[in-house]
This record gives sequence, structure tokens and C-alpha cells, in this order.
Amino acid sequence: MKANKPSSTAIFVANGVWWVTNHPQLSVEVSELMGNLNLEMVKHINRGPFSLQNRVGRWLLKTKTSLMQKIAMPGFYLHFVVRKRCIEKFVRAAINKGAEQLIVVGAGFDALSLRISNEYPDLTVIEIDHPATQVWKRKALEGLDQRFNNHYLLPLDLTQDTMQAVLLRNEHYDRNKSSAFVAEGLLMYLAEKEVREILNFIKDNSGLGSRFIFTYMEERSDGSYQFKNASLITNWWLKVKGEQFTWGLRNEQLAPFLNESGFRLLECKTHRELRAEFISAVNSGAHLAIGENIAVAQLDR
Ligand SMILES: C[S@@+](CC[C@H](N)C(=O)[O-])C[C@H]1O[C@@H](n2cnc3c(N)ncnc32)[C@H](O)[C@@H]1O
Repeated sequence: MKANKPSSTAIFVANGVWWVTNHPQLSVEVSELMGNLNLEMVKHINRGPFSLQNRVGRWLLKTKTSLMQKIAMPGFYLHFVVRKRCIEKFVRAAINKGAEQLIVVGAGFDALSLRISNEYPDLTVIEIDHPATQVWKRKALEGLDQRFNNHYLLPLDLTQDTMQAVLLRNEHYDRNKSSAFVAEGLLMYLAEKEVREILNFIKDNSGLGSRFIFTYMEERSDGSYQFKNASLITNWWLKVKGEQFTWGLRNEQLAPFLNESGFRLLECKTHRELRAEFISAVNSGAHLAIGENIAVAQLDR
């Protein structure tokens, strides 16, 4: 991504969730809390003509987001919503199994950590993100009435520095505690070496039973990484924004890849399971993006 600008894809995701929240039929898929907290982020990240402060701005933002989805891929925004709901379910399961820390890497404008930190005041919640994106998130949080006393922001560019460098120096992170690490919509922007570094960090610096909850792109038959139903314009847009996909796996590679770093695959959801589990009957025929799966793995020691 561009060093001095917030991630365009993080803005795209938050606006996409806002679009679903306001859709006459799809809105039932978004919980009230998810919709409300996301709205706070969307208010902050859309400025100038797209400001939500007035009707014209709201109409322009709605038109722009609709158009972007039409051009990019049908079912993109609903995918973001079900991906977030699935990850939240995995995070809650990890907390029920004893996780005492939640570390969200590449958090963007996602509000999972806010929903969770409010509900579990004894949990330590740390968000790590590229500094250029996180500076906007920090401002958005400062604008909220609510304060989150167990929620901390840590800037890190994973292509320049490592989790060791920032987390181990941080007073709030305890390497002996069982933890849930989340990487939603992040690993596809990294190189395999950087993905391994995250896994190795968790293996060497977190407590028993720690889990890694992440999304990954399914590698296509031609060796590229992209959603199966994405238009060519999607690739072009990601390239212009400096956010092309650089890493993914074939599904059969997932479990062995994790085993090599000392993790055991617990579950993986493709678009089929996501549709079956998270989309209501009324929207059963709705388009859903294909090609980004959600996995949860546990440290095998
Ligand atoms: C597609 S957005 C996903 C945001 C959020 N996880 C979500 O799903 O709503 C990608 C996120 O990865 C972060 N990111 C991309 N490259 C990064 C890097 N080199 N170091 C740290 N974060 C990075 C961006 O800042 C952005 O927040």
C-alpha cells in the first residue's frame, strides 16, 4: 500500500459494510452493533462531497459504492459482512476456550475489536495496522463518545518491521497468555516470508492454546490470486492503489502449510459454508464473492 495514505481497500470494506447495512433486503445480515460502529468509521473516512453529514453526500456515497461493486464483482459487500460475522464467531469460540488477549493485525476500519473489548472488559485487545491507516482509525476512535479502556492501537508496517519488534516491547502484550490473533483481509498483501513470520511469532511468543484466525485467497489455476468472479478492473484498481494480491494457497495446501509452522487447522469456511451458515433464507439467492476463505488454526503444542 502507499506509505502516506490510508489503505484504500480498508475504506472500500467499511463502505461496503455500510452499503449492506442500508440495503433494503440485505441489511438483515448486519447486526445493529456492527452497523452502528461501522457507521462511526464510515462517517470519519468519507470526506468532502461524500460526507455523510448531508443528504447529497449520503446519496453520492451510496451511488459510488453501488457503482464500484457493479464494476468490481457482484456479492463483494455481502462477502465482507459474512466474513466479519464468521470471524467474530471464531473469536468468541477462542475466548470461550480461554483466550485472554485479542490481537487484530491489519485491522483497518473494522470494529470487531471494539465490539469485543466492550463485552469482555478483562480481555486485552490490541490492534496492529499500517501507520498510514491507523492514524485515521485513531482519529475516528477519538470522535466516539465511548472509551475502550482495554483497547490499544499499535502501528506497524509488516513489510518493514516485525511483530516481535512492536508487540514484545509493548507493555500490554503478555507472551505467556493464551491469545486469539486475527488477520482479516491482510495476508494476501504480504509475501510468504511475512506470513511465516506472523505464524512463527505466535508460535514462539504466545501461550498454550493460542489461535490464529485468518482469511486467505485461494490460488487460481493460473497461479494468480484473485476472487473468482472479479472483473479485470478489480486487478487494475488494486494495482493503481498499490494493493495487489501477492499471496494465497490452494485449499489442499492449507493444512500442511500450517503444520510446517506448528499449527493445526481446526476449521475452514469457503463461500459455500459461509452462505449456508450466515445468510438468511430471504437472501439465499444473493450474490456472494468466491475465492477468499476463512480459517482458524491452533498452536499444536
Ligand atoms: C483489505 S484491508 C482489511 C481491513 C480489515 N481487516 C477488514 O477486513 O475490514 C487491508 C488492511 O491491511 C493493512 N495492511 C496492508 N499492508 C500492510 C502492511 N504492510 N503492514 C501492516 N498492515 C498492512 C491495511 O492498512 C488495511 O488495514
